[in-house]
Amino acid sequence: MLPGIIVLLATLLVLVVQYQIEDAFKVLKVHGGLPVHMDLRWSKRAAWLLLIVTGLMMIVPSGVFTPGSSDPALLPQLATFSDDGSWTGPDTSRLALLEDGSEERIRYGRELIARTSAYLGPKGSVAKLSNGMNCQNCHLDAGTKPWGNNFGAVWSTYPKERSRSGKVESIERRVNDCLERSLNGRPLDSTSREMRAIVAYMEWLGTGIERSKKPPGTGIMEIAYLDRAADPELGRVVFEAKCSSCHNEDGQGKLDMEGTTYLYPPMWGEHSYNHGAGLYRLSRFAGYVKANMPQGSTHEHPLLTDEEAWDVAAFVNSQPRPEKDLTDDWPDISKKPIDHPFGPYVDHFNETQHKYGPFGPIAAFYKKP
Ligand code: HEC
Ligand code: HEC
Repeated sequence: MLPGIIVLLATLLVLVVQYQIEDAFKVLKVHGGLPVHMDLRWSKRAAWLLLIVTGLMMIVPSGVFTPGSSDPALLPQLATFSDDGSWTGPDTSRLALLEDGSEERIRYGRELIARTSAYLGPKGSVAKLSNGMNCQNCHLDAGTKPWGNNFGAVWSTYPKERSRSGKVESIERRVNDCLERSLNGRPLDSTSREMRAIVAYMEWLGTGIERSKKPPGTGIMEIAYLDRAADPELGRVVFEAKCSSCHNEDGQGKLDMEGTTYLYPPMWGEHSYNHGAGLYRLSRFAGYVKANMPQGSTHEHPLLTDEEAWDVAAFVNSQPRPEKDLTDDWPDISKKPIDHPFGPYVDHFNETQHKYGPFGPIAAFYKKP
C-alpha cells in the first residue's frame, strides 16, 4: 500500500510541475512575444497513465497483481500427503494466509481438539461437561495422523446417515456423540462459540477434499480377524508389558502437574470412555492401537502383532467403565456392526461372541444373500 501512495503522490507532483512549466512557456510566448516552444503532451500522457495504473492497483485486491498467488501452492487450505499417499492434513502455517477472518476461529477449534480438558474438562475454563480426556487422545495430532483416527473425511462425508442413530447426522451431532460417549460427558450447544470453532476447524481440514471422498489413511485401520476369540487374559500380559508404563498399572492414566490434563489418558474406570463409545468395539480399539500404540508407533512401523492388538483390546474392554443408556442405538438391529456387544441381533450368535469373536463366522453370516 505505502509504495503505491508514494508513486501516486510523486506522479501527481510531476503532473502539476509539467502543467506549470507549460503555462510559464505560454505566458512567455503570448505575452512576452518570445519565440519559445515547449510540448509536454507525451510526458503528460505518460504521467496520467502511471497515475491511473497505480490508482487501479491500489483499489483492486492485491492478489490479482502478485504473480503466482492463484497458484494452489499458496492456498491456505491445501492438504498435505505423506510419502505413501496418506492424508496428513493442511499445514497450519498456511492459516495465516486466510483473509476472511476465520483464522482465529479455526485455531481455537484446533486448540479445543488438542486440549479439550483445559476448556471443557472437570476443571474446564469454559464449561465443565466432559471426563478430562482430550479429543486428541484418540484423534491423534489434532485429527491429522494417518490411521490415527483422523478427521480427513469429516467435512467431505457429513451430514450423513448413520445406522447407530438411524438418522442423518450433522458434524455437530457427530462431535456431540463423541462428547457424550468417548468423553462420557454432555453435548455442546450447536450455536456455542466452541462448537462453531470445532466445525470451522473440520471445514478447514476438509477443504480441497471432494464431496463424499475419503482420503487414504483416514479413520481407523482395519486389521484381519483372528480365527479364535480375543483373549482378555493374554491381553493382560500385553498390557503389563507394553502399556502400563504410561497408562499406569491400574489403567487410570497419569495427570499433569496441575491435574487438569492427562499426560497419559485412562484406559478404563470412571474417567474413561463409556460403553457406548466407538473404542468399546473391539475392532475399533484393536485397529487404533495397532497403528498407534505404544506411543510412537505408526501404521508403517507397528509395534504390536495383530494378536496382541486384539487381545489387549479384549483385556481393556473387559474392565469396568461408565455406562450409557443405549436404548435408542441401532433402531434397525440388522445394521449393528458385528462387534457391537449388545443384543438383540438378527443372527444367532451370542453377546460374548459379538464382543470377543471369533468374528469370521459372524461376518460370513451377514455376507450370505
Ligand atoms: C476415547 C476415544 C475418543 C475420544 C476421546 C474422542 N473420539 Fe471421536 N471418535 C472415536 C472413535 C473410535 C470414532 C469412530 C471411528 C470409526 O469408527 O472409524 C470417532 C469418530 C469421530 C468423528 C467422526 C469421524 C468420521 O470420519 O466419521 C468425529 C467428527 C469425532 N470423533 C469428533 C470427536 C471430537 C470433537 C472429540 C472431542 C470432543 C472426540 N471425537 C473425542 C474416539 C474418540
Ligand atoms: C510411551 C507411552 C505410551 C505407551 C507405552 C502406550 N501408550 Fe497409549 N497413549 C499414550 C498417549 C500419550 C496417548 C494420548 C495421545 C495424545 O493425546 O496425543 C495414548 C492414548 C491411548 C488410547 C486412546 C485414549 C484412551 O485413553 O482411551 C488408547 C486406547 C491407548 N493409548 C492404548 C494403549 C495400549 C493398548 C498400549 C499398549 C499396547 C499403549 N496405549 C501404550 C501413551 C502411551
